Amino acid sequence: MLTSWLHLLALTVYLGAVIGLWVMLIPCVRRVAPQETQLKLLAQGLKLYNPLQVGALGIVVLTGAFAITDLKANYRGLFAQQLGGTLAIKLALSFFLIILSTYQAMGIAHRFVRRFEADESLPLRDIEAITHRLRALSIAILLLAAPIVWLGIRL
Ligand code: HEM
Repeated sequence: MLTSWLHLLALTVYLGAVIGLWVMLIPCVRRVAPQETQLKLLAQGLKLYNPLQVGALGIVVLTGAFAITDLKANYRGLFAQQLGGTLAIKLALSFFLIILSTYQAMGIAHRFVRRFEADESLPLRDIEAITHRLRALSIAILLLAAPIVWLGIRL
């Protein structure tokens, strides 16, 4: 029961962070001027976003694994027959969600923060490409999360 609540709580933090990046941080970054302020705002926002997104998803995965153990103990021999198919699809989709999330946080956002902190020159074209990719990945993550949530509720 506790693992189930933690799974949902971590999921809320995770999805909240992804939605916040899409509907709050990126539109704000695009509207401010000059470019130095834009860079600072994006770097500071992403410094908070990266550990929050990666950490919350990590807790979702861990608590999900604990919940499987609980369900296995309750269903015993009937576990695979009753939940196997739904769980297999949910885990397969979760695998792609983890790849997308890690790419967004570590491959794009963290790399940008490191370039910013190293005082590397970041032309406007680069900032636009980064915010565009972050936004597209947030939308892809949310689209993928919808069927996973639906399958989770059916478990
Ligand atoms: C490898 C990662 C994951 C594993 C092993 C996992 C496993 C589970 C299990 C076993 C349950 C049933 C819990 C219960 O009935 O007590 C569950 C519920 C659920 N999962 Fe996951 N899950 C994972 C990732 C995700 C992700 C990424 C999402 C959403 C994007 C998600 C959303 C949900 C939801 C909404 C529920 C229903 C919660 C409830 O009814 O209490 N899960 N998950």
